[in-house]
Amino acid sequence: MNILGIETSCDETGAAIVCDGKTVLSNIVSSSLKEHVKYGGIIPEIASRRQLEYIHSVVDEALKKAKISFRKIDAIAVTIKPGLIGSLLVGISFAKALSYAKQKPLIGIDHIKSHLYANFLSNKGETQALPKLPAVGLIVSGGHSSLYFIKRFPEFEELGHTLDDAAGETFDKVARILNLGYPGGPAIEKAASQGANKEIRFKCADLPNTFNFSFSGIKTAVLYYQNAHRHDKMYSVNKVAYAFQKSVVTRLVKKSIHACQKKGTQTLLVGGGVAANSELREQLQKAAKEHGITTFFPPMAYCTDNAAMIAGLAFHYKGARNKKGTKIASRVF
Ligand code: KG4
Ligand code: ZN
Repeated sequence: MNILGIETSCDETGAAIVCDGKTVLSNIVSSSLKEHVKYGGIIPEIASRRQLEYIHSVVDEALKKAKISFRKIDAIAVTIKPGLIGSLLVGISFAKALSYAKQKPLIGIDHIKSHLYANFLSNKGETQALPKLPAVGLIVSGGHSSLYFIKRFPEFEELGHTLDDAAGETFDKVARILNLGYPGGPAIEKAASQGANKEIRFKCADLPNTFNFSFSGIKTAVLYYQNAHRHDKMYSVNKVAYAFQKSVVTRLVKKSIHACQKKGTQTLLVGGGVAANSELREQLQKAAKEHGITTFFPPMAYCTDNAAMIAGLAFHYKGARNKKGTKIASRVF
């Protein structure tokens, strides 16, 4: 079954073709990120206008690269939530029109869940050990930070979520406080790699007995620290970035391992842009090993926003029914 996935939830315009929920035949991403850099964050108006400009050629290219005609596409999958409303509308309208014109079923996909599904994708000709379910999934992106329990696809049970900022958003905002530029995650990671120290400590909220997160406190702590110390002789932005990253990562790791123990699973899936962070990868793998847990990170190309994860997860909804009992994938708009 070949599914054409379309992803337009934020500043990336993605189209991909995935066979049987696992083999990526093509994965095309166009991004307007560079245009937002000077503003220090995504400008929704610019993002949605670029989506409109890119969508046609991105979908065309995905078909070309996969070397299949539209006749061989069995269904169309599109991100329906969450995301910037203007950006989402472009992808959804495009997918609906295509579904209607070509008489192909249309499947709406949750962007956050699909980030975890990225761990189940492989490129054509490559084989890799796939994660075993049930699993706990940690999703850490620019807009979301949640823990899920996945018994089998497409059943996701949310264990917890952030009560305020998302992990990636916190990296972005702290990078802005420290004048490190946008996007903040890679900038903080780079600065932190030259700032190892034990003098500065920030506390990331614990919220005991829950699987929820809170990152707004540590963001304020960094701001206050910066205001109080930036004129000190020994002040080092790199050291602050290191202490901040360490604290956030430690909290993410502790909660994820705890969730695996609580749910009695040995598989931990990670997804979202922050999954690219090397400190998170190292700490998580180390802690997981100590507890007999196997950790999975998607390949870099599937960590950040892409349509392959949308098309991949959609495969598991092909027989699913909506509340009215109608088969979701047989619904043609
Ligand atoms: O998943 P994603 O591409 O988009 C959303 O759906 O939000 O995530 C983007 C987020 C940004 O906040 C970015 O700063 C963060 O992921 N990010 C990182 C790293 N690379 C990207 N955070 C920490 N370390 C990184 N290396
Ligand atoms: Zn995302």
